[in-house]
Amino acid sequence: MIAANPKIRSPWQNEPQNERQRDSLEWTKTEDGSPTLRDWGKDGGNTGESMHHSAGAFSESLYVYLPALQRFRSLNLTATPSVCVVGLGLGYLELLIAAYFLSKNQNTPPRLRLTSHESRGDLRRAFLEWVLDRQPKAKPTPSVLSNAGEAYEHIQKKMAQHFQLEPNTLRLALKQWSEQGRWELRAALNSTNMRPERHHVILFDAYSSASSPTLWKRSFFDALLAQQAAETCVFATYASRTILKHSLRTHGFCLEKRKGFQGKRECTLAIRTPSPQDSNQS
Ligand SMILES: C[S@@+](CC[C@H](N)C(=O)[O-])C[C@H]1O[C@@H](n2cnc3c(N)ncnc32)[C@H](O)[C@@H]1O
Repeated sequence: MIAANPKIRSPWQNEPQNERQRDSLEWTKTEDGSPTLRDWGKDGGNTGESMHHSAGAFSESLYVYLPALQRFRSLNLTATPSVCVVGLGLGYLELLIAAYFLSKNQNTPPRLRLTSHESRGDLRRAFLEWVLDRQPKAKPTPSVLSNAGEAYEHIQKKMAQHFQLEPNTLRLALKQWSEQGRWELRAALNSTNMRPERHHVILFDAYSSASSPTLWKRSFFDALLAQQAAETCVFATYASRTILKHSLRTHGFCLEKRKGFQGKRECTLAIRTPSPQDSNQS
């Protein structure tokens, strides 16, 4: 994964193209030293989109999504926070959520509900096995994921350093939330399988519309915001698209203008708060 470490380099280096396609994921090290994956899909069917900006997977995750958690906290809601992540990937956002809330709660895991969606079963499995400290039942496939534990440890360490926490407390918070049924790791989210839930924070970190066109449709955002957003809700994503902005405004969100990460034109941070007469919302 991290190119400097020979144990974790891309496993298909010097391998023929058909081998590469079968393995479907490729590790890269971004400029802040943190790992990301490039996804070629099964049999090379995907665009090969990287999960993060080359300038820094860690820095981008913090830049785009930490303000959403801070904005949410500044609203001082009494309800148990419910947070939804679309696109688990390498778990940067789950570790960020754990670190942020631990740092605000005397280092103890607070009451919280967390729902993560990830379409790839191999990524869900690898992250969960690491969180629960379980040995994989079988050799991970694609084989590139046999290095995933090192990547998660690296991300956890960086995140813990940033929030001045003990590294393993992040994993343990996720483990505790999982065992208490507070953290659920689900398969792909689409406009037809949304459960009627109310999240206070939605971190939308899916691939771009080039790789995931159905997730960037107006109908998808309308369904997401109508069915999954709590009355008080903060929505964040790394991109800014007109259809998304229209959908957010239609659903009562106010958009805060933010520059995108590393020269990207804009990213999205939007907040909806209840009208003054509707004060007992959750
Ligand atoms: C940009 S990456 C997410 C990066 C991630 N947040 C992290 O911290 O590493 C996008 C992720 O969304 C997943 N994905 C694609 N379609 C999805 C869907 N419909 N529902 C949930 N996840 C999806 C991809 O497999 C990929 O892991």
